Amino acid sequence: MQRRHFLKTTAAAAGCMLLPRGARAGKNAPGNKLNVALIGVWGRGLAHYEMLAEENVVALCDVNEKRFPEALKRFPKAQTYVDWRKCLDHKGLDAVVCCTADHTHAFVANWALNRDLHVYMEKPLAIGVEEARVVRANWLKRKDKLATQVGMQRHATENFNRVREMIRDGAIGELKAAYAWGNRQIRRDGYLPAQGQPPQDFHFDLWLGPSPVHPYNPGYFSGGAGSNCLSWNMFWDFGAGQIGDMGSHTMDLAWNALDAGLPTSAEATGEKFNPDVTPVACESHFEHPANDWRGPIRVSWYQGGLMPRSPNPTIDLKRIDHGAMFKGTRGFLIADFGTRIIVPWGDKAVPNYKPRAPEQMLPPVGHFQKQWINACKNPSLKTACDFEYSGNMIEQMLLGLVAYRVGKKIEYDSVAGRVTNSPEANDLLRRPYRAGWTLDG
Ligand SMILES: NC(=O)c1ccc[n+]([C@@H]2O[C@H](COP(=O)([O-])OP(=O)(O)OC[C@H]3O[C@@H](n4cnc5c(N)ncnc54)[C@H](O)[C@@H]3O)[C@@H](O)[C@H]2O)c1
Repeated sequence: MQRRHFLKTTAAAAGCMLLPRGARAGKNAPGNKLNVALIGVWGRGLAHYEMLAEENVVALCDVNEKRFPEALKRFPKAQTYVDWRKCLDHKGLDAVVCCTADHTHAFVANWALNRDLHVYMEKPLAIGVEEARVVRANWLKRKDKLATQVGMQRHATENFNRVREMIRDGAIGELKAAYAWGNRQIRRDGYLPAQGQPPQDFHFDLWLGPSPVHPYNPGYFSGGAGSNCLSWNMFWDFGAGQIGDMGSHTMDLAWNALDAGLPTSAEATGEKFNPDVTPVACESHFEHPANDWRGPIRVSWYQGGLMPRSPNPTIDLKRIDHGAMFKGTRGFLIADFGTRIIVPWGDKAVPNYKPRAPEQMLPPVGHFQKQWINACKNPSLKTACDFEYSGNMIEQMLLGLVAYRVGKKIEYDSVAGRVTNSPEANDLLRRPYRAGWTLDG
């Protein structure tokens, strides 16, 4: 069993029991409750209310003041903020749950870690390669005392463990390649044109935050609760398109079974480059070195209608909107979030593979958000999607966008965080920030 999964196992088994009875869990809160700030209180923020109601929500932050009355009904004792930088300095905080727009994620995460706060960050952790590296490195320095989790909650579904077990137990022989794909297609031509003024109680300048200025348009904010991200996440300055969106969930299905670190190369092709909008149709490929249980592998991500080739003409992979496939020396494993099938290579039989007995199965992750809460209270417990696991995954995916932009295969020195064969690609590892905003505050 891999160390990460062993830790998951022991952590899940231990629950909160490692905590001495009567101990103060949140360093600042009595009664084993954490003092939490919720940043971004509407939309995806609503999905966290139930879990947070069991803790002390002491601060609420949103750039849209219209969202406060409802949130205050649920968390009446909280102080409100419109600027997350001020919110993070709320006295006595233990932890932060952040559901803001993607272009602020790495900032909020890094500032929170700098203040020794536990962080639950909605996906994606970052939208630039350097951002992912900075946040991961910061957490690794503090991982013994701080719990982190990226909002890839599908990870807790049973199929993730079953797929991992099959790959590790040799169900398709020796692993050679992994593919993940997503078929959400939302097309935009460019940033929205100026239209009207932001309402008085909507702080558009704070919403833009570190990103370059674009004119206000209500079209960025007219989506429903939890899906408004689809109004802005395809623009380069606000998101990473489907790589950050469904890519965070779907690559996770493969990533969980690979025990991969960072790739040594990335190459990508897709539709014509648009300086405003991330590509809809794009495919990216990464080479990963061998690890202690498998040889080198190639990992691929497809989106916007592009797909890996089906191993068998009778199987139409396009019927799986978001899925993953693994290629081994004896066959293929194809999975969506809930199911999986094995397809043998030609007439080769599947080798000696027996599903695990129940007592050998990886234990369930359990409630995904609660796993983080438990780890905040006892940082010796692990989380499934901490900033190392999720940081590596999103760094790989974002390198694909860099390769797409320069239009060539890039060689990557993952220790230094440098592209070694393209100065132009190197410049794209970092995205431009507005004056006055720093990642390390
Ligand atoms: N894990 C999942 O399954 C899942 C599902 C949906 C969305 N998300 C993620 O959640 C995040 C929010 O998505 P959404 O659709 O709710 O977006 P949204 O535009 O509705 O924003 C959510 C809330 O955050 C506030 N906000 C935005 N930027 C802010 C800032 N800088 N400071 C304070 N408040 C700010 C908004 O006013 C809004 O109330 C995105 O990163 C998205 O990727 C995750």
